[in-house]
Amino acid sequence: MPDSPKLDPISLRLAAANALIRRRRTIKPKDMSSRPIENEHLAAILENGNWAPTHGMTQPWRFFIFTEDGRQRLADYLQSLYKKVVSKEDFQEAKFEKLGAQPLQAPVIIGIGMSRQKIEKVPEIEEIEAVACAVQNMHLTASALGMAAFWSSPPICYTDDMRKWLGLGDERDKCLGFFYLGWPESEEWPESTRDELSEKVTWVNS
Ligand SMILES: Cc1cc2nc3c(=O)[nH]c(=O)nc-3n(C[C@H](O)[C@H](O)[C@H](O)COP(=O)(O)O)c2cc1C
Repeated sequence: MPDSPKLDPISLRLAAANALIRRRRTIKPKDMSSRPIENEHLAAILENGNWAPTHGMTQPWRFFIFTEDGRQRLADYLQSLYKKVVSKEDFQEAKFEKLGAQPLQAPVIIGIGMSRQKIEKVPEIEEIEAVACAVQNMHLTASALGMAAFWSSPPICYTDDMRKWLGLGDERDKCLGFFYLGWPESEEWPESTRDELSEKVTWVNS
């Protein structure tokens, strides 16, 4: 007889956490359908982003939501910025085209910003880490809803031009990329793998 599943509260909570964390998957805009995102779903995703941990409660995440025609504005700007910052020799037509196409393949794109604590007490790296936690919260929520999501970080996102265009503050603030949200085209949820945990863990027992 197979072992019956453990139904005590801790085992159930652990099983729920395992399922959610391992289900979270990157699904890119090219694999998203044209189905729009309901406001209540977007609100749930953003709200959970806002619950990220944060040293000193600085809460440095800033979200810039591009929807409908705003996506075309984003696409146009990404292309113009790429043209501006990449030298003629390094310019890749395929990259340029992708920057213009991707925002129109997703119903919602969230510009990810880090707003630096003004007194700079908390180290900058911890502000960035807190924003990454916020994105993870949003990604987990999207996966729980069955939605497709993708954190994109083209090199141009780290430029001053991008920061200013989004409406972040002075040069201490940063754009950390774009979080694309939509519904997957395919009914098959993708799978992934990770290298062995043992390769990444060091135990110190004495
Ligand atoms: C900070 C960060 C930036 C990322 N930027 C990109 C990116 O620019 N392009 C890309 O293809 N994937 C990007 N990804 C997504 C990874 O490719 C993806 O997480 C990885 O392939 C593992 O897949 P999974 O998310 O389904 O587990 C980024 C992920 C993180 C955490």
